[in-house]
Amino acid sequence: MGHSCNISLVLAIFISVLHLSHAQDKGSAPDDYVSMHNCIRRVLNLKPVTWDEELAKKAQAYAEERKVDCQLIHAPFSGDGENLAMGQDLSGTWATQLWLDERLDYDHQKNECTAMCGHYTQIVWNTTERIGCGKARCNDGKTNFICCRYNPPGNYIGQYPY
Ligand SMILES: *[C@@H]1O[C@H](CO)[C@@H](O)[C@H](O)[C@H]1NC(C)=O
Repeated sequence: MGHSCNISLVLAIFISVLHLSHAQDKGSAPDDYVSMHNCIRRVLNLKPVTWDEELAKKAQAYAEERKVDCQLIHAPFSGDGENLAMGQDLSGTWATQLWLDERLDYDHQKNECTAMCGHYTQIVWNTTERIGCGKARCNDGKTNFICCRYNPPGNYIGQYPY
């Protein structure tokens, strides 16, 4: 994997994902999530995150639990950060891109969101070291539910992510 990364690269990845995502259900391997997370973390000079099997198991279990209603409802806090997404045939790469797009709603100087940016701030939280994600097909047979868990967790109210 290269060491340079910028926003236009992210956009290029997103565009290719858009083309692929409906035909194939790719882009949900551990490396897909990790490289998408570390791309932006590298841009911001943050330590890269690594994949954690325990977090991945918990994320997968929660995605399975939610497939009945497919609602974006957070699990009760258990010490990990959590990002959720759902969409038709959604891949892990695409879900992470949706969260990354929230950076446009984040004002780092004021540490404020203009709309929604909590998924983004968890991705770029400087003390988060490990991630694990899971994906489940909802009972409607077409929607995927994606859950990523983060440890140490981010999004402490009143604190800056970096
Ligand atoms: C994380 O960011 C905060 C806010 O800028 C800073 O105070 C803290 O020292 C940083 N911690 C690490 C480990 O980089």
